Amino acid sequence: MTKVWDGFIRGFHWLLVTGIVLLYVSGEQEWMDLHFVTGYLLLALFVARLIWGVVGSDTAKIANLFHGPRAVKQALKHEDKRYGHNAAGSYMVLLFFVLIAVQLISGLMSTDDIMMEGPLVAMVPSSWVEIASDVHHLNINLLIAAIALHVLAIVVYRLRGKNLVKTLVTGRTTKDQTIAAEPKMRAGVVGYVIFGVLSAVLMATWGSAPLSALFN
Ligand code: HEM
Ligand code: HEM
Repeated sequence: MTKVWDGFIRGFHWLLVTGIVLLYVSGEQEWMDLHFVTGYLLLALFVARLIWGVVGSDTAKIANLFHGPRAVKQALKHEDKRYGHNAAGSYMVLLFFVLIAVQLISGLMSTDDIMMEGPLVAMVPSSWVEIASDVHHLNINLLIAAIALHVLAIVVYRLRGKNLVKTLVTGRTTKDQTIAAEPKMRAGVVGYVIFGVLSAVLMATWGSAPLSALFN
């Protein structure tokens, strides 16, 4: 059994799921202080993941997410023996990264027209703010569709005998998974340190007002 997911990738995934659920609920309920604080933490998490995509383990590398059409076909036919995300799954991950980036950036430029405005609202033309608010409303539906497809794919793999969730929880391949080569792994704690530093900076700056409103 080979180690394929480092501690940061594993934690990142479940923190991401928790963050997106909280952001969805707080957005819909208009709990804006909670929405902003969670939004900044998710921004820190996401930027840490992108940095980890350059300096982290082989299976975290963004450069390893790009594959040719032949590799995707092989992966869909269940013939992919590479470590980490297979070729088809890699494009799903890239799609998630784009949709999450769009949601975060549009949020930073959105306003609820009542009390709260994203920290970039004052810096960009008002026409951008209008577009960003529309994008923020529309893109959440694309994100939800991608999540549904993602979970469906995981279930299909499970039915075909591959337990990807177990691998993502334990970080190790199961007995039935064979991979061609061992990935180079890095200590996930470094990823958490990057996340911690970015969170602290964002909480001390943009986050300080909604954070104190949340606890008052
Ligand atoms: C808000 C919902 C979700 C989002 C946004 C999401 C997003 C992602 C992302 C971005 C990755 C790539 C991880 C990385 O390389 O950093 C991933 C992988 C994965 N996710 Fe999710 N996910 C969600 C929910 C779920 C749920 C509910 C499950 C379990 C049923 C799940 C199971 C997995 C598994 C098993 C992988 C690894 C896939 C592989 O082996 O290539 N995800 N997810
Ligand atoms: C991935 C991260 C995020 C998700 C999933 C998300 C989700 C949502 C949702 C579902 C709504 C309600 C939209 C509706 O009523 O149709 C909303 C509204 C809003 N979000 Fe986010 N959001 C995210 C990040 C952010 C960030 C980082 C900020 C700013 C710091 C932000 C600022 C706002 C504002 C100001 C509104 C109110 C818009 C309005 O009332 O028109 N969001 N968000």
